Amino acid sequence: WKTLDDMDLAGKVVLVRVDINVPVEDGRVTDATRIERIKPTVDDILKAGGKPVLLAHFGRPKGKVVPEMSLKITLPALEEAFGRGVIFADDCIGLPAKQAVAALSEGDILLLENTRFHEGEEKNDPALAAAMAALGDIYVNDAFSAAHRAHASTEGIAKLLPSCAGRLMEAELTALEGALGNPARPLVAVVGGAKVSTKLDLLGNLVGKVDFLVIGGGMANTFLAAQGINVGKSLCEHDMVGTARDIKDKADAAGCRIVLPVDVVVAREFRAGAVNETVAADACPADAMILDAGPKSVEMIEEVFAKCKTLIWNGPLGAFEIDPFDAATNAAAAKAAELTEAGLLVSVAGGGDTVAALNGAGAAEKFSYISTAGGAFLEWMEGKTLPGVAALQD
Ligand code: 3PG
Repeated sequence: WKTLDDMDLAGKVVLVRVDINVPVEDGRVTDATRIERIKPTVDDILKAGGKPVLLAHFGRPKGKVVPEMSLKITLPALEEAFGRGVIFADDCIGLPAKQAVAALSEGDILLLENTRFHEGEEKNDPALAAAMAALGDIYVNDAFSAAHRAHASTEGIAKLLPSCAGRLMEAELTALEGALGNPARPLVAVVGGAKVSTKLDLLGNLVGKVDFLVIGGGMANTFLAAQGINVGKSLCEHDMVGTARDIKDKADAAGCRIVLPVDVVVAREFRAGAVNETVAADACPADAMILDAGPKSVEMIEEVFAKCKTLIWNGPLGAFEIDPFDAATNAAAAKAAELTEAGLLVSVAGGGDTVAALNGAGAAEKFSYISTAGGAFLEWMEGKTLPGVAALQD
């Protein structure tokens, strides 16, 4: 793929697909990370004399105009991040968009309304892609986190204009390629979360690539059950036990060591501050549930980290959202952060709740790279081709 450095941007209208699908509460952006991370791309386009026109989706309006899903809501956060005003057009095609583009002066930034207000966006309708492409001279995709969608603004349009990756897309692809494509070894993956069933493809892909696979959260219970261990009232997918065994066999054949908890923190209630105790992984009382990995397990995970040169992390080790069942996640994350700071480990994390879980430990900012992607990060870890990235390579 090409980058901004390969393009002549001076005087050009540059359509930039960004992902500013940010959390909003009471009409305000509550986490502007995704907005802050697109600033280098916008800045570099402005510096080169180009006129950035931002294309983005927001929420899932399903092809209808839903006023609460207007991108207008993001304007104050964009203006704060960019340190200048941002012009808004209330459609991403048609007259409002054309007039706003025609009126742009050097130094202006234009944001177009939610691409998903048009049915053609998610259908990857060539007519919508062409209407958007007609607005600009160059297409830049800076939305790695939306690149798993083959939509008009992420895939179709890339085929119609000279295209390249933005700075954030570049950073994501470089970091992820360094972590899983061509990593310094040994390589460890931490995969946590509630269910094996949602991460089957991911586990299947990882066991063929990583040297150690640390499994945490509810998923670990299913793997323990696959060893014939009684997990009491723990979250466990009993119908996935055979699949867990298959994954373990595949790992053994590939020389990948699966790391499961050897001790666990159990409680009788799923609530913050619930009375709890630490027991051996095979000693969960029949009326209790496993809510976190225990200290011996953490020690073991830390030893694995210390042996490794690269770490890729997706998902918490326990019920991190309720205290004190965030302890294993926090401790392991702190160790990863310490090894990263010492220059001994390259650490990459992403996907859904992962960053929130690592933030809890104050560790996320010390990681080598934190992806802005949720679903796209998972699909990439599954080894899938992301259509938005593939379209840039064509
Ligand atoms: C995300 O928030 O992960 C991306 O913006 C993609 O959103 P989507 O899952 O609605 O396609």
